[in-house]
Amino acid sequence: MCGIVGAIAQRSVQNILLEGLKRLEYRGYDSAGMAIFDAENTLQRSRAMGKVAALEEKLEQQSLKGQLGIAHTRWATHGKPSEHNAHPHQSGDKLAVVHNGIIENHEALREELEGQGYVFTSETDTEVIAHLLSREYDKTQDLLTAVQNIVSGLDGAYALGVIHADQPDTLIGARKGSPLVVGVGIGEAFLASDPLALLQVTDRFIYLKEGDVVCLRPEGSVQVFSEQRETVSREVITFEHGDGAASKGNYRHFMLKEIHEQASVIASTLEGRLGERHVLTHCFGADADNLLGQVKNIQIVACGTSYHAGMVARYWIEKLAGIPTQVEVASEYRYREVVVPEGTLFVTLSQSGETADTLAALRYAASKGGYLASLSICNVPGSSLVRESDLCLMTQAGPEIGVASTKAFTSQLIAMMLLTLSLRMVRQGDDQVQADIVAALRGLPGLFEKGLAMDSAIETLSAAFAEKHHALFLGRGPMFPIALEGALKLKEISYIHAEAYPAGELKHGPLALVDNDMPVIAVAPNDELLEKLKSNLQEVRARGGELFVFADENVHLKEGEGIHIMRMPAVEEHIAPLLYTLPLQLLSYHVAVLKGTDVDQPRNLAKSVTVE
Ligand code: G6P
Repeated sequence: MCGIVGAIAQRSVQNILLEGLKRLEYRGYDSAGMAIFDAENTLQRSRAMGKVAALEEKLEQQSLKGQLGIAHTRWATHGKPSEHNAHPHQSGDKLAVVHNGIIENHEALREELEGQGYVFTSETDTEVIAHLLSREYDKTQDLLTAVQNIVSGLDGAYALGVIHADQPDTLIGARKGSPLVVGVGIGEAFLASDPLALLQVTDRFIYLKEGDVVCLRPEGSVQVFSEQRETVSREVITFEHGDGAASKGNYRHFMLKEIHEQASVIASTLEGRLGERHVLTHCFGADADNLLGQVKNIQIVACGTSYHAGMVARYWIEKLAGIPTQVEVASEYRYREVVVPEGTLFVTLSQSGETADTLAALRYAASKGGYLASLSICNVPGSSLVRESDLCLMTQAGPEIGVASTKAFTSQLIAMMLLTLSLRMVRQGDDQVQADIVAALRGLPGLFEKGLAMDSAIETLSAAFAEKHHALFLGRGPMFPIALEGALKLKEISYIHAEAYPAGELKHGPLALVDNDMPVIAVAPNDELLEKLKSNLQEVRARGGELFVFADENVHLKEGEGIHIMRMPAVEEHIAPLLYTLPLQLLSYHVAVLKGTDVDQPRNLAKSVTVE
């Protein structure tokens, strides 16, 4: 998704902006651009299709010298990816703007502006903002006021960075619906969609709130105004994760690095949250026991991989805490007339905390009323979701850069197991079931390390998939969402069409597709559904399908023609979904590497989906 970087300093900003764009590459984009005022306050702009490296090449030919600038990576929404649609957009030769989000009333605004003689050079919704600002600046002669005056007329979502040649000591930012942070420097100040973009220059950030407009000055002063135009003070938060997170270290791709980090991520997400035999329920807040005790129903809402974590959690919560649970993708939930059963806890799951549909779902739930409370499980402190939820539990995955989510997913599963066990604890007190799962959770980082030893075997196996066009993933019970996640990973990064089915549903359709060109991947831990799954696998074999089964080392399954068995370390059955995610991640990774795709930034996808 689009990324914004802005800088106002007493030194040259080109390389700061360029480095910022590189650090935002993980979000997904198709073009990049930059605008800087030179010493004579002339607006210089450079834009390029494709990677930031293409922009960098242009800047090597002709650098942009100056101390105030804005830059952008664009993920096309209105108008195809092209240089003329790339940001920054200008109105005349004095004003430039970068934008993340979607302006829904852009057509009407464009018509009005064209009627007044404004000439458009792109198909983007953003260009209307540039012209609106220019028109308003001509009236007010003040950039801050101009921004404050026009934003109320924008429907939809925006994060903005704006500069004007007549005010070379001012960088304006504004946000509503799309994320924007201020990087607080020493004698300089910055804007970005994500703190990661600025860690090379500062670790102190202000997370702007909905409707905020901010005015940055070259000596580093930061003035924030609320939507009501009152001067407000916003907390400066020190970013906790080290800068190392934004580098690949010795790994070929961020995705592989992040897969390998999962053992330590699990340990961090559990840290301080486990007692000897049960979860320390106050990890959900001081009053958690009281609140969790009142929960009669749970509604989980999320998107993408986070939705799959929610699906696993439903099996856990209903089985272990006895609480009816619904899970829904946020884009459906937010537009549905929902009926809220009494005592419902509203839970959102999100890596970024900025996913537009998930945020909108939370706001819809809040406006609807009737929920007991909202809880967000999130990986980014200070994100919109965290700020707007009543309670939150932070996953400790650290920054995740690969677009295909891996370590964030496992940390979300851990968080949901903590919630499940807390709900059980407040209902029936300490018991052996909790003690067993808690012990198993403690052992999980070790099992992940063991599981990673399968890497080279899975790499060999991946050759069987690289030439295929389709793949089918099967699982039962809580392993069904794991099959879904395995299929999602494969399609996201290798572009192989992959589907997942609950194995029992095989004969109601997908069996018709099975032949020796369709590899079938099954996840088979040693659980109560194993025997059922085995019968389903026979159904596949009988139709000539080639089976790849990740199975518990103690499960009796015979390798044979067309049946490949990969042995997994034995694991307590409730937490098997966590461990069985690992080989599926590795499989999709190696298939993608063999196919030569852009593993960390797969085509058409974005890390942080900040538009609906
Ligand atoms: C995008 C990402 C996925 C992610 C989903 C939800 O599609 O590519 O990896 O699962 O958004 O994002 P969230 O930040 O809300 O977990």
